[in-house]
Amino acid sequence: MNKINKVWAVYFTGTGNTKKMVTTVAKAACDKLGCEYAEYDFSLPTVRAQEISFADTDLVVFGTPVYAGRVPNVLLPYLTKNIKGNGALAVPVVTYGNRNFDDGLMELRNIMTVNGLTAIGGGAFVGEHSFSTTLGAGRPDPDDLAMARELGEKVAEKVLSGAVEGPVAVEGEDPIRPYYTPRDRNANPINILKVKPKTDPDKCINCGLCARICTMGSIDPQDVTSVTGICIKCCACVKRCPKGAKYYDDEGYLYHQHELEDVYARRGESKIFL
Ligand SMILES: Cc1cc2nc3c(=O)[nH]c(=O)nc-3n(C[C@H](O)[C@H](O)[C@H](O)COP(=O)(O)O)c2cc1C
Ligand code: SF4
Ligand code: SF4
Repeated sequence: MNKINKVWAVYFTGTGNTKKMVTTVAKAACDKLGCEYAEYDFSLPTVRAQEISFADTDLVVFGTPVYAGRVPNVLLPYLTKNIKGNGALAVPVVTYGNRNFDDGLMELRNIMTVNGLTAIGGGAFVGEHSFSTTLGAGRPDPDDLAMARELGEKVAEKVLSGAVEGPVAVEGEDPIRPYYTPRDRNANPINILKVKPKTDPDKCINCGLCARICTMGSIDPQDVTSVTGICIKCCACVKRCPKGAKYYDDEGYLYHQHELEDVYARRGESKIFL
């Protein structure tokens, strides 16, 4: 039986939803287990260049957002090479923007398993969509957070009772389905891969925050209007710029954003798996 003496909150987050849910689950588990707490944020490329190792006395709450119905593909090299589970217990957590988490949680659970972590619980929680301020607005809300605490507490109960077989069953399809493709009004795929945010020079005060927080390290700190590398549309720079100076003007991107806002206006469900 695993004796757990540390609970980790480990996450990638662009706009803060995943951080909020992962830390809520981890703190609830930690309170119940009365053990040490640690946080590890791998949102920056410099952090993803390093390996992280866990121990069989660790419980790791591990989260990513859902991108295109899956774990963000740019994270796969990191997730498959630099995470050493060493028999730790895990709780995969995803957040999604009120459309669907599709196979994101199952893919993350499978990655955990291959990395030597045993998933004993999981959660998929709604958060405001990265592309929007109306889709999933106000999420996670108090109900989502209560569900996250319930997940943390129930996972801790499993640890205390020794019921730590895994991997836990979660929603999704295995084999994992292809990435979700946005489509235009004629059902042609919309390709937003090369789309990058613009900067409004009248609003930008050159504080440099966007360059420091870009999850791809792609914004030039000497000239924040310049996105020199790839942009994954995480929207960290757009939503966290204190002056609201970053925006997208690409037609395909805006069409996709508005279509999502129209079609998925209903309340999406957060779900936990034990
Ligand atoms: C490129 C991209 C693709 C996304 N794809 C989906 C999706 O397939 N389904 C969905 O419901 N939300 C999707 N989202 C929304 C995010 O999953 C959601 O807003 C998430 O909570 C963001 O987490 P963060 O705040 O930790 O960055 C996508 C966001 C981005 C940036
Ligand atoms: S965070 Fe906003 S205000 Fe600050 S440098 Fe970037 S675009 Fe300009
Ligand atoms: S430039 Fe792209 S990848 Fe970088 S923070 Fe902005 S949206 Fe995210």
